[in-house]
Amino acid sequence: TDPALIRNFCIIAHIDHGKSTLADRMLQITGVVDDRSMRAQYLDRMDIERERGITIKSQAVRLPWDGHVLNMIDTPGHVDFTYEVSRSLQACEGAILLVDAAQGIEAQTLANLYLAMNADLHIIPVLNKIDLPAAQPEKFAEELAGLIGCDPSDVLKVSGKTGEGVRELLDHVVNSVPAPIGNADAAARALIFDSVYDTYRGVVTYVRVVDGHLGKRERILMMSTNATHETLEIGVISPEPKPADLGLGVGEVGYLITGVKDVRQSRVGDTVTSAAKSATDMLAGYEHPKPMVFSGLYPIDGDEYPELREALDKLQLNDAALVYEPETSAALGFGFRVGFLGLLHMEIVRERLEREFGLSLISTAPNVVYRVVMEDGKELTVTNPSEFPAGGKVAQVFEPVTKSTILAPSEFIGAIMEICQGRRGQLLGMDYLSEDRVEIRYTLPLGEIIFDFFDQLKSRTRGYASLDYEPAGEQEAELVKVDILLQGEPVDAFSAIVHKDKAYAYGVDMAKKLRELIPRQQFEVPIQAAIGARVIARENIRAIRKDVLAKCYGGDISRKRKLLEKQKEGKKRMKMVGRVEVPQEAFVAALSTE
Ligand code: GTP
Repeated sequence: TDPALIRNFCIIAHIDHGKSTLADRMLQITGVVDDRSMRAQYLDRMDIERERGITIKSQAVRLPWDGHVLNMIDTPGHVDFTYEVSRSLQACEGAILLVDAAQGIEAQTLANLYLAMNADLHIIPVLNKIDLPAAQPEKFAEELAGLIGCDPSDVLKVSGKTGEGVRELLDHVVNSVPAPIGNADAAARALIFDSVYDTYRGVVTYVRVVDGHLGKRERILMMSTNATHETLEIGVISPEPKPADLGLGVGEVGYLITGVKDVRQSRVGDTVTSAAKSATDMLAGYEHPKPMVFSGLYPIDGDEYPELREALDKLQLNDAALVYEPETSAALGFGFRVGFLGLLHMEIVRERLEREFGLSLISTAPNVVYRVVMEDGKELTVTNPSEFPAGGKVAQVFEPVTKSTILAPSEFIGAIMEICQGRRGQLLGMDYLSEDRVEIRYTLPLGEIIFDFFDQLKSRTRGYASLDYEPAGEQEAELVKVDILLQGEPVDAFSAIVHKDKAYAYGVDMAKKLRELIPRQQFEVPIQAAIGARVIARENIRAIRKDVLAKCYGGDISRKRKLLEKQKEGKKRMKMVGRVEVPQEAFVAALSTE
């Protein structure tokens, strides 16, 4: 295709503002999907995506419109996947900034807009859901115009649901988004903006060609790893994959298949070039995804450990951001320490493990990555509280911090500040978007955000606040490790790294919880919370003498045997911590956040 006839654009929006629905309408209106085979959220292929109504992986689809080729790149809207959003943006020249006409600008509207502006995209401001009775198109057109610096009359108004205004929007894309520019004679360079694993075809890599040309049966080179592969198939998505025998040229967006089985060999952000005539410079901006949140994952039934390993191996084929290594816990047995991009990523991985692989899992409380400097100058990276060095030899501890942006109606300013202050937030600034809506910016420790921050925020603002955060380096903090001991034995799964002001509360809480969850034993069991050698909280489980044979009066021998059998059964579901028997359920209950 002549690059002058190509328009590459994406739709960016806050979660639930209707991106997927608008994409569906575009598929239908351009005739790519006929009305009969149309189904909601056509582009969201994963079951979880469909059920939760969210987009996790980006998708690209080619739409013919008015003699032009439009490549629409659907992007994920959630903070955890910002890296994927920014890669998708690099593949475009224009962005539709979609805002719900009943909600107005939200935190991810801003975050995505800034990403799009950084990528130098032409921005098309659009209000969606104008069919809703609660829509306030005039008010929010003004808000949106104020944000990007245009006239309110330049804001397009559409309904992804009814299709109103969508044709005009497509025309507008053709007329206003710049055509791609590239050097057709240069060595091939294509940006990988997505890569998914397909059971039948192996890894399908989505690319945007910047310079040159990529063809079928060509040896290609992945520039970040220097690995070479052969393109077995190359083509475009419209809306199903269609092989393109002529390959892909400047400005084109499509897919390639090389037969590799692991998405880590075809990483988002990498540059593909031709092995025979390779480019010298990579396209800018390749980054390894960096896990921000860690948690231990253990099978409830220890026999399922091999299955868990296999399931993680399989998931990783499709999720380059997922990292894990084996870990043993005295309390929970064999499991894995798993690193995630964020909390949503963590939830999704866990849900997929349980659902697609039929596993029952316990996960330990999530924690962030700490940098610990010892008095002798040595440094450690701690991804697991049990690795946190005990004793007084720690000189400094650094924790990751975020720049967080919260948008809400101004009546909630007080509540929001209270929550943020309670989590060691530092106010960076505050701006009014309109009379009654405000943007509040805080520096907040990531470790404080990953514990129910979002839930708190939502409940204190009746669901009106939205949150976005980005990594903003690290800060020194007074953090300590709190251990929980049963009869003097630390239970590794319950250790936590917390700020010193919260250590006492954590210790007291955990000790109380466990006193209720652990059944009495033949002897007294002290439960202690301690920082190093210093005990900060203590509870006792009183002793009982649990003699199962007492009721048998020495008579009926078969009944006696039955009782002993039964007790043995029960013991299997017990884990030993020192001499203390702890039922599996106690761990599950204590680790689940209330
Ligand atoms: P993510 O993929 O999670 O970012 O969400 P999304 O932005 O793709 O939102 P989605 O298209 O899933 O729409 C969210 C909700 O809004 C769904 O319940 C849609 O049915 C509804 N919705 C989307 N567009 C419109 C519209 O134009 N009018 C009305 N009334 N509802 C809409």
